[in-house]
Amino acid sequence: MADEQASALAEKPVDVLEAQEAAEELARLAAEIAAHDAAYYQNDAPLVSDAAYDALRQRNEAIEKRFPDLKRADSPSDKVGATPSSAFGKIEHAVAMLSLGNAFDEADVAEFDARIRRFLNLESDAELAFTSEPKIDGLSASLRYEKGVLVQGATRGDGRVGEDITANLKTLPDIPHRLPDMPGGVPDVVEVRGEVYMSHADFEALNSRQAAQNAKQFANPRNAAAGSLRQLDVAVTRARPLSFFAYTWGEMSEMPATTQADMMQCFRDWGFAVNPAFRRVMQVTDLIAHWAEIESQRAGLGYDIDGMVYKVDRLDYQQRLGFVSRAPRWAIAHKFPAEQATTKLNDIDIQVGRTGALTPVAKLKPVTVGGVVVSNATLHNADEIARKDIRVGDMVVIQRAGDVIPQVVRVLTEQRDSDSVPYIFPTHCPECGSHAVRETRADGEEDAVTRCTGGLTCPAQARERLKHFVSRAALDIEGLGAKQIDDFWDLQLMRTPQDIFTLRARYQDNPPEIWRYTSGSKDKIGTLKDSAVKLFNAIEARKTIDLDRFIFGLGIRQVGETTARLLARHFGSVENMMQSCLQIAGGDMLARAELEALDGVGSTMLDALIGFFDEPHNRDSVSALLEAGVAPTPLAEIAGDTAVAGKTIVFTGTLEKMTRAEAKARAEALGAKVVGSVSAKTDILVAGPGAGSKLTKAQELGVATMSEDEWIELAAL
Ligand code: IVH
Repeated sequence: MADEQASALAEKPVDVLEAQEAAEELARLAAEIAAHDAAYYQNDAPLVSDAAYDALRQRNEAIEKRFPDLKRADSPSDKVGATPSSAFGKIEHAVAMLSLGNAFDEADVAEFDARIRRFLNLESDAELAFTSEPKIDGLSASLRYEKGVLVQGATRGDGRVGEDITANLKTLPDIPHRLPDMPGGVPDVVEVRGEVYMSHADFEALNSRQAAQNAKQFANPRNAAAGSLRQLDVAVTRARPLSFFAYTWGEMSEMPATTQADMMQCFRDWGFAVNPAFRRVMQVTDLIAHWAEIESQRAGLGYDIDGMVYKVDRLDYQQRLGFVSRAPRWAIAHKFPAEQATTKLNDIDIQVGRTGALTPVAKLKPVTVGGVVVSNATLHNADEIARKDIRVGDMVVIQRAGDVIPQVVRVLTEQRDSDSVPYIFPTHCPECGSHAVRETRADGEEDAVTRCTGGLTCPAQARERLKHFVSRAALDIEGLGAKQIDDFWDLQLMRTPQDIFTLRARYQDNPPEIWRYTSGSKDKIGTLKDSAVKLFNAIEARKTIDLDRFIFGLGIRQVGETTARLLARHFGSVENMMQSCLQIAGGDMLARAELEALDGVGSTMLDALIGFFDEPHNRDSVSALLEAGVAPTPLAEIAGDTAVAGKTIVFTGTLEKMTRAEAKARAEALGAKVVGSVSAKTDILVAGPGAGSKLTKAQELGVATMSEDEWIELAAL
């Protein structure tokens, strides 16, 4: 085909193309897009603008849509998924992606081993094998294969819901698109999980390419990996050198092995990279030795690791051990010591948090610690500053470990100026001027935290509370994060949680400038922007919210995600919870005892809860939210079809087949509530040998009682 003919064809609108022309155009587009991808991939030097590239892809898709039969086997639309969309889709993980607990020294590791033995009722000399491997400092991803074909790839997200980055993950050379046919076959559903990371060499090379093109520099390999993977334009990801180590799994229709080590072998057989330092060891002392060995090689490995991960090798043990909160009992991260640097403390800033806590922050002369530039460090509280005698102008040693906020380790007093003066902690809130005080705790000691007494009249507290309310583990409203809260606060568009849900009603017809078209087509000027409509819709969508998220979002002191879930399960509704707390505040000892009987609720927490609902403005805020249409929904029974879901269970006497801790964990995993004492609300009493007064009481109250064996059968353990 002559060149001018081809370019004439390239200009021709899709809707007037003949079939023959369409076929030619699809061929041309496939070749041209592939050439652009190659240029981008190999040289990181695109031949055309992003917009021009997108236009080619859109044309290709439009033609394919009109002539589906002409779609080519090597169609560009298959290679990288859809054209870049404005955001990633969400993927709900079939099995949650969890985090890990930490061990910082040998004693923590020994306790990890001891805890597992206690839980499983194993003697201290019984065989208990572990696996040990580096903890890669990258970002985790989950790869789903159905009938051996990679169908979905997701980020961890909040652990329950991640982002759909299938097309991006497919560009990684370490990620097979198909699992090989194995003699015994491959399970129908396989989810391989692991870490996406960038090597030091690739990171350096990327940053110098970026510098040459006057483009953004990345702070460290982890950020570079994250920034590269979460690209709407897959061609960018393809051009970035990313690697992947497999180390765990999610949903599996069938388990191909019975140990962690054999699972890793399976992953290798399927074509995944497993870290070469992966080992199976028999003793805690061997874990420590392996840790020391890898730590000594750390600088030369070629990629960032921040510790070792130990896992119980036997999968049946892993199953029995289960999870606490968001981390498995059967695994732990043994961290490497933090990296340190020396710099000057230029100033001490005081930040006011959600609960009024005044947190001192060290403003530092920027310094590089372990590859990251640090200019702030936490100073914790007044006692910490006094104990270390930290003064403005001092030279200080700071350290940084993983993602945690850097800390000031000590002051180099020998380098201190003779005219330096001790730091005086403020007695008033820097944000609102209210008195800042240290409360006296129940044990008579002074609390470490200095708090602003302004409550919600303090703008800093009110603003931080709003940020907490919309945070990821709480309402998690798309397009409404900490940054937007700051903006909307400054513009006086929202001051309380309930304001969020009245935004639309208040501003739909007279939007403020940020939500109004101020330029563009004439008929749009003055009307609501699409971004505002999107925000209002996102808010509307979160009116129906899981009760535990809602409770967590209230920001009650002592109530974290786990407690929030516990309370949600116990009360079933906000109204119930509020009612009950008011009764307790009014002196109802029975209501108090019932709440205290809940495993995981201590008296400090209970006081915080009651204190919260005792404040009229907090009750008003909750009522206003409900009135604005927020509808917290009771927790979906995680295990709705189990025999004990929703039941209240008490264990008493000696259990012989499993420890009390295991029994409780299993019951909770099946959706039951485990309490410590028998009442009329108890559904089941599981009584082992030696059961005493609880059994008598249960019989008096007519509560169903059963033996350990009957319980095991009922719970299908
Ligand atoms: S196992 C249920 N192994 O560390 C246990 N995690 O702090 C799942 N990570 O979210 C994790 N290297 O992103 C495991 N060898 C390794 C790891 C590893 C890095 C990350 C992972 C996880 C985080 C937990």
